[in-house]
Amino acid sequence: MLSRIANRRKMPEQELPRDEAALRAMLNPARLPRHVAVIMDGNGRWAVKRGLPRSVGHRAGVKSLREVVRLAGELGIGALSAYAFSTENWRRPPEEVSFLMELFVEYAERELAELQRNEVRVKVIGRLEGLPERVREAIAMLERETLKGKRLTLNLAVNYGARWEIVDAVRAIARKVKEGKLQPEEIDEKVFSSHLYTAGLPDPDLLIRPAGEMRVSNFLLWQLAYTEFYVTPVLWPDFGRVEFLQALVSFQRRERRFGGLNRNPVG
Ligand code: FPP
Repeated sequence: MLSRIANRRKMPEQELPRDEAALRAMLNPARLPRHVAVIMDGNGRWAVKRGLPRSVGHRAGVKSLREVVRLAGELGIGALSAYAFSTENWRRPPEEVSFLMELFVEYAERELAELQRNEVRVKVIGRLEGLPERVREAIAMLERETLKGKRLTLNLAVNYGARWEIVDAVRAIARKVKEGKLQPEEIDEKVFSSHLYTAGLPDPDLLIRPAGEMRVSNFLLWQLAYTEFYVTPVLWPDFGRVEFLQALVSFQRRERRFGGLNRNPVG
């Protein structure tokens, strides 16, 4: 086992193969992350570089999401969280915001059949009450129609902000304390986690951040406490199966210590 890990270390990250079969051969299926989070960034830059409107970049970003969801399901990764729209994204030009809202509706309608076929369960996390009615209805439909999916949980973060998620958890806990259903001493990390939007899911093992940004951008702040970060300059619309496999190989080379001293291989 150790020699296998050592062998994997010999190839610097930048030189990882671009061949899917070769990358798959480097992966240890027993040590895949249980939960991968991804910040789908760089759609705008991708489009501008091509002299196209930003909306074309967002559409191309949907294709990347489709590929990553497919591969995560094929590999048996249990959960994928994808940041689609942050609470800060309302500051974008109104045309871009409306386009993204329509894209969510279109996504729900167009992807449903494939998501069902691949046994994906979609859960939308965020402050849904702040979304237009049409989008809320599309989300409700997508969640309801994919309820039976057992292979992969796809958490789509829409109108999501981690600080709001934490505030919402605090409010829910405070209400229970006020009603006498919970004692302050009973509140611990586990209880707190169970009041977050991601309740029931393991924390992400891996966060993928495309487009070269070194920020967390208010995504899953509590859940990322021990997550491995993978930053790549590749823009999200160019991120596909090969890039996802490279991220997974890179993840498997890390040593995760969770604050301790023992050198635990990942997984
Ligand atoms: C960030 O790129 C991306 C977004 C704000 C939207 C992400 C949305 C998608 C990938 C598609 C929609 C998803 C669904 C589920 C329909 P950016 O525009 O900030 O890129 P930039 O930093 O290069 O400008």
